[in-house]
Amino acid sequence: MSGVATISDLEFSQFQKLIHQLAGIHMSSEKKALVCGRLAKRLEQHGLGSYTEYFKLLTAERNAPELQVAVDLLTTNETYFFREPKHFDFLRERVLPAHKSSRPFRAWSAACSSGEEPYSAAMLFADHFGDGPWEVVASDISMRMLEKARNGHYSMDRTDGISREHLSRYCLKGTGPQEGTLLVDRKLRSRVSFMQVNLSKDLPELGEFDLILLRNVMIYFDMTTKRQVVRRMLPLLKPGGHFLIGHSESLNGVVDGLRLLAPSIYQKP
Ligand SMILES: C[S@@+](CC[C@H](N)C(=O)[O-])C[C@H]1O[C@@H](n2cnc3c(N)ncnc32)[C@H](O)[C@@H]1O
Repeated sequence: MSGVATISDLEFSQFQKLIHQLAGIHMSSEKKALVCGRLAKRLEQHGLGSYTEYFKLLTAERNAPELQVAVDLLTTNETYFFREPKHFDFLRERVLPAHKSSRPFRAWSAACSSGEEPYSAAMLFADHFGDGPWEVVASDISMRMLEKARNGHYSMDRTDGISREHLSRYCLKGTGPQEGTLLVDRKLRSRVSFMQVNLSKDLPELGEFDLILLRNVMIYFDMTTKRQVVRRMLPLLKPGGHFLIGHSESLNGVVDGLRLLAPSIYQKP
């Protein structure tokens, strides 16, 4: 019976290695129950009786679709609109007014989860630049999250951080069968392009950015991976550009050469 399968230490260590190889994610042994719980439904789906069988199914012929499902299940995607509001104050008060309006403002939300972060930033950019040239590139490793993000359709109870003004300017309130939901309006959505990017591998061509948000993802990486990830990203930041990380994260010992402006807010000289 797959429903009652437990995961042995050996099995857990195989999944630990796999998620590290695939996504750079470090899972300590305290995460054993979490891995077991999150993957249990896949065992059930495939009618498998043990985690060893599921591991074989994933890895035997590099089962790409199932590997993606496992990555989707093993990543933690918690996010919300205007999370860590000081960052958004900083963008509105310091970053946007300092931008020379002649060239496009480009931002990268590099672990965007279900889209709340890039849409929050996009609301500020639309306030400031209006129809002028600006864009947000938003990426994540999770295809399931990217699909949610592209839809821009959220439950109303997840939208507390959005001001009344922003709600009326950039969001449509669901009615009838859509009651209790909110849709980010098409015009704002069209400014945000979503794509899959695995930060633990070589990066695709994305161009250069005025702003990079790498928030609340480094906590899942070990020090070596953090260094590799940030070093790969920094060449994509323009001189004078800003680099924001989560409030509980730090670049101490990760990278030199960025100027610390405030906790979690860095600038490239
Ligand atoms: C906790 S969420 C952070 C969302 C948002 N940045 C925020 O601060 O609210 C972490 C996200 O990082 C993504 N992630 C984890 N490993 C990744 C990797 N190697 N490459 C790209 N994204 C990754 C996860 O899929 C998840 O959506």
